[in-house]
Formats: sequence, structure tokens, C-alpha cells
Amino acid sequence: MKHAIYPGSFDPITNGHLDIIERAVKIFDHVTVAVLSNPQKTPLFSISERVEMIQKAVLKTSSDLTVDQFQGLLVDYAEKINAQVILRGLRAVSDFEFEFQLSLMNRRLNPNIQTVYLMSGSDVTYLSSGLVKEIARLGGDVTDFVPRHVKAKLQERLVDV
Ligand code: PNS
Repeated sequence: MKHAIYPGSFDPITNGHLDIIERAVKIFDHVTVAVLSNPQKTPLFSISERVEMIQKAVLKTSSDLTVDQFQGLLVDYAEKINAQVILRGLRAVSDFEFEFQLSLMNRRLNPNIQTVYLMSGSDVTYLSSGLVKEIARLGGDVTDFVPRHVKAKLQERLVDV
């Protein structure tokens, strides 16, 4: 059984992430979307909010999909859940350097786990959680970039800050 882990900060999930997830479930037997809980970072949304937003966004996607959270090294978590593949999306060339470093380091840490990249869809290639937050914060319309419930959460949260 081919089990892939799709890790990230997902602060918050965007249509770009969903594009990767929707294609991944057609390739792998099981996909675990794993949200990084990093005490060193201050995300806009708490870990449980990020997990919940993803769960809601993937409700109709597939039964072969789990949403979870993790702390510590990604390769350790991947091994713990028996995932053989780390899946990442690749948008523009600017992603390449970081992703190259990440995949080589993860391979060095655990050579049994392979990193696989999916190219983002051309209609979402310019999307990032950071940009979406900035647009929402500045009063722009994010309807085309995130699911409806994420847009509502962004509006609610950004009114508070
Ligand atoms: O969505 P992001 O922020 O680009 O995701 C980055 C992520 C979560 C994949 C990366 O930061 C990660 O794997 N963190 C876990 C800690 C770890 O394993 N660090 C060593 C990476 S070589």
C-alpha cells in the first residue's frame, strides 16, 4: 500500500493545497495531510483550527485521506505512520531551492522515505497562504483562492487583529 504524507503549515489551507490533495488521492492508496505544530512560530490560526479547516475542505474528497498534526522531525512522523512518500507541491522556480534542500536533508535523515513533487495547477501556481492572508488583511477579495469557510475564518480573525 502506497501511503503519502503531505506536510505543511497550512496557515490556512488554500485552493493550491487542495489542488495537490485532489490529485494525490488519485495516485496514492492513502494520503495523510499533516499539519506542522511548531511552538517556535506564531501562526494566524491555531493547530486545531488549521486541522479543522482542512477537514472541512476535504470532506467530499476521498475516504483514503487522513488529516493529522505533528511535531518534531517530519521523517520521524512519516515513519511512525508508515508513510513511504513525502509529497510536496512545486509552484514556481523560486520554490525549487528550498524544496531541493528539504528533500535532500530528509533523504539523508531517512533514506527509506522518498520525496515526490507535484507541479501546481496553472490556475493556482501564484497562490500562497502568506499572500492570501495579506490580501485578506488589506481588504481584498480572496473568494477565488480559498474555500468559503476559510474565507469566513480569515475575515473573522482579521477583524480581531
Ligand atoms: O508549508 P511549509 O511551511 O512550507 O512546510 C514546511 C514543512 C512543514 C514541510 C517543514 O518545515 C518540515 O518538515 N518541518 C518539520 C521539522 C523537520 O523535519 N525539519 C527538518 C526538515 S529537513
